[in-house]
Amino acid sequence: MRTRILLTFGVGALLLSGVLFFFTYTLTRSNLREREGELGLSEQLISETLGSVRASLILATVITVLVGLVLGIVSSERVVRPLAGAADAARAIADGRLDTRLEPTDDPDLNALTDSFNAMVARLQERVERDARFASDVSHELRSPLMTLAASVEVMVSRRDELPERGQAALDLLVADVARFSGLVEDLLEISRYDAGAVRLTRDDLAVAEFVQQAVQASSMPRSTINLDPRCTSARLNGDRRRLARVVANLLDNARAHGGGAATVHVTPADDSAGHVWIAVEDSGDGVVDIDLERIFERFSRGTGSSKRGTSEGAGLGLALVREHVRLHGGRVWVESRRDGHPGARFVVELPCDALLAG
Ligand SMILES: Nc1ncnc2c1ncn2[C@@H]1O[C@H](COP(=O)(O)OP(=O)(O)O)[C@@H](O)[C@H]1O
Ligand SMILES: [Mg+2]
Repeated sequence: MRTRILLTFGVGALLLSGVLFFFTYTLTRSNLREREGELGLSEQLISETLGSVRASLILATVITVLVGLVLGIVSSERVVRPLAGAADAARAIADGRLDTRLEPTDDPDLNALTDSFNAMVARLQERVERDARFASDVSHELRSPLMTLAASVEVMVSRRDELPERGQAALDLLVADVARFSGLVEDLLEISRYDAGAVRLTRDDLAVAEFVQQAVQASSMPRSTINLDPRCTSARLNGDRRRLARVVANLLDNARAHGGGAATVHVTPADDSAGHVWIAVEDSGDGVVDIDLERIFERFSRGTGSSKRGTSEGAGLGLALVREHVRLHGGRVWVESRRDGHPGARFVVELPCDALLAG
């Protein structure tokens, strides 16, 4: 667009001055020739005059083209700048910054575009917020009856022996389902907090080795092996202890449910960056197939293998939450194949950290 405007101005200026050149020069020449005898002009004088007329016309042409080009640059800047601004704003909105708006300009033509763009974003923001509020309201409403339900189930569990056998079996199913349901509601609530942008990390200075040990101990697989690289012994990271522990717990839960039931946690410096640590959870299950590598981190998304294996444990929110938690810490998470060649999945959480020892 910029080049096109510039070309239009340049060619326009060239054409205009070319036409002027042609007329001025031919008119002057024919005038001089016509009155040559009448005025007694010498041949030399005529050619000198024509020469200087030509020189000044050439100079005028060059100046006109240059001025045309400068005007072209200025006006293409003026035209393109608001478009670049709109492109930046669209990118920011796509990245989730829904409060981005275009600044009004002093150009009424552009203002029509700015106004409708801003109105569109405002409606989009309203809609996204309404959806987020809906999920959060629903989970809030479900929370208190669920707590009552959990408390009543607890009472029944304490008197389990008094129930007939069939009653006990029914109670066990109820206990498992209430726990699953509460987990789901808590996860939904947390995810709607992310959507509303209402998550504030409670950051602490954590010793990585000690933190991983505690997180594993508090998880559903407290006996998992932890493999700590010597370079990470004094590594520290600044993070939200509860949320990062959830990340480790979710990955271990998954290793238990989808990954064959045993896991090893590896803590190593990142391969390609000096300021990051990798906390990797490896299992010996079937691994994750290629088409699922990205997809399983989406909400309510369960791997293609899950239904086949009939695991009815989760709703597919675990990894979505893991990704949100890690992203808020400025890190990344992904899944790959195990590096030692054995079958199994390797989930890597990359987090910024200090005090890694050079290896
Ligand atoms: N360790 C693993 N090995 C193989 N597949 C896994 C593993 N962890 C997760 N997955 C796949 O990713 C999907 C999404 O995981 P998640 O978000 O935790 O949901 P959920 O555990 O509720 O199914 C799972 O349904 C499963 O198919
Ligand atoms: Mg899970």
